[in-house]
Amino acid sequence: MRVVLFTGKGGVGKTTASAAAAALAATRGCKTLVLSTDPAHSLADAYGVSLTSEPTEIDTGLYGQQVDTQRAFEARWREVQHYLQDVLEQGGIDPLEAEELTVLPGAEEVLALLELSRQAASGRWDAVVVDCAPTGETLRLLALPEALRWWMHRIFPADRRVLRTIRPVLSHMAGLPLPPDSVFAAAERLSNELAEVRSLLVDPSVASVRLVLTPETVVIAEARRTLTSLSLYGYRVDGVVANRVFPDDGSDEWRAGWVKAQRDQLAGVRSSFAGLPIWESAYAAAEPVGLAALAELAEATYCDADPLALNETPDPLTVERVSSDEFVMSIGLPHADRGDVELVRKGDDLVVTVGSYRRVLALPSVLQRCAVDGAGLRDGRLRVRFRVDEQVWMKS
Ligand SMILES: Nc1ncnc2c1ncn2[C@@H]1O[C@H](COP(=O)(O)OP(=O)(O)OP(=O)(O)O)[C@@H](O)[C@H]1O
Ligand SMILES: [Mg+2]
Repeated sequence: MRVVLFTGKGGVGKTTASAAAAALAATRGCKTLVLSTDPAHSLADAYGVSLTSEPTEIDTGLYGQQVDTQRAFEARWREVQHYLQDVLEQGGIDPLEAEELTVLPGAEEVLALLELSRQAASGRWDAVVVDCAPTGETLRLLALPEALRWWMHRIFPADRRVLRTIRPVLSHMAGLPLPPDSVFAAAERLSNELAEVRSLLVDPSVASVRLVLTPETVVIAEARRTLTSLSLYGYRVDGVVANRVFPDDGSDEWRAGWVKAQRDQLAGVRSSFAGLPIWESAYAAAEPVGLAALAELAEATYCDADPLALNETPDPLTVERVSSDEFVMSIGLPHADRGDVELVRKGDDLVVTVGSYRRVLALPSVLQRCAVDGAGLRDGRLRVRFRVDEQVWMKS
């Protein structure tokens, strides 16, 4: 089973690239589902078919699905939300405001991930291809499963039994209702689903991300930053699609100028994404719309290679024991500048910020009893040294 996500700047050809790769894979015998979260229905337009919120067959072995976010997630979250509203209202918060405060951040987007995880687990597919939203939204989405779990664990601590024993006391003291078991159950269920999504997406034998770009300065700069941020969140980028490359077979000056400019940009792409396969898709004479045109585009792009093959990449995060009382955590942050990286230890979490993206990393238990002993950024990796510290150990 493979999960391949295509992302990139707005308009560069994510839908086209994912639809094309999936079409080619399907003609070669890989039962493939393409999943889109774009409410604009562009995946359906690219294939020239209509799609629904359930997988629809487009061709032999090729299925498409338009995820309809919102409803199902609301149903999952409603019970938890009502409880939180009660608590806030009793705490003196205006009911309208309480309602606003308990709207789960990113709830709609996360449904798309839950659907992805459901399809991946269904056993129906050899591959699930995801036509993602532009990079900013995709990153927000991919940061969600971990961030939401973190947030829920603070509101609904894992050890429910502890709460049950102290509930009468606490309830009396604070004058607040404690969550009933059903709320806990709902929160726990959601939390487990999020954990499944997350482990699917970071599974090195299953999932990877493809960056789609066009050979232009601004687009490439964004793709470089996306590589950094995806890696920060623990995701693997295992290939780059350079789309809309002008074929070098015309003679007019206008074309020659573009071909030369793109060639320079492509050299930049190769050095920025060294170690990753870079597939070039030609700027077709017409929009690649419809199954035949898409499959043809993919044939020319991947030739005999499997468009959905998983390519090996370094682990985004590793922890290594370097002596009896020392560990090094290494986080891949390609292209990150020292000035943009910030590191804060907060209890059992390590908060890593790179530019405008932040990851709250729950430390593995061996590192919880260590103190951070130093950190450095070299060769695209942030290395954080931890040393066993009895005082940290005693406090926890
Ligand atoms: N290689 C190509 N040759 C010619 N036209 C292309 C090529 N790739 C994409 N296009 C066209 O460019 C337009 C944008 O492509 P597409 O919809 O795939 O981009 P996108 O990145 O998914 O956009 P969005 O960010 O809006 O989701 C479409 O009209 C598509 O047909
Ligand atoms: Mg699109």
